[in-house]
Amino acid sequence: MSLRQRSTLNHTLGPGSHRVLAAVRVLSFIVLACGAIRVEALAADAPAAQSLAQKSGCFKCHSVDKKKDGPALRDTAAKYKDKADAQEKLIYHVTSGEKVKFEDGHEEEHKKVKTSDPNQTKNLVDWILSLQGGTRY
Ligand code: HEC
Repeated sequence: MSLRQRSTLNHTLGPGSHRVLAAVRVLSFIVLACGAIRVEALAADAPAAQSLAQKSGCFKCHSVDKKKDGPALRDTAAKYKDKADAQEKLIYHVTSGEKVKFEDGHEEEHKKVKTSDPNQTKNLVDWILSLQGGTRY
């Protein structure tokens, strides 16, 4: 390889590969930043969830840590832990008015959330599923 050829090669590979590296760095930064935003979006907004539950009358039959007419919500989180369709099931549960059985054996339509915004319902369900310290029953 003549000196002249080598310097042309250096010229094309050298600065060029730096540019590629810089692009890779910028890209990985963007990917990482998006990842961080996604994690933020997945975490439930607890105050908003509780206020929707309050407004919808959920706490008449549920509390976070004690069984009332309905199960303690953290026990529901434990029951659905590791279940892939947990969110979908609970969204259906709190929006469909499906029949539920009470301990005395009577059945009635389960209460629906008082919102027409699917994101608020999803947030409430995500909050319920995020509750810690429950026991499976
Ligand atoms: C009149 C009482 C009552 C009200 C009000 C009520 N629930 Fe329930 N809920 C129940 C009962 C009873 C069950 C148990 C159903 C069963 O095990 O079949 C239940 C079950 C649940 C479950 C567990 C479902 C499952 O698949 O394990 C969740 C979550 C839940 N309710 C959320 C809510 C939310 C959110 C609200 C407010 C929109 C609400 N509940 C209002 C009585 C109530």
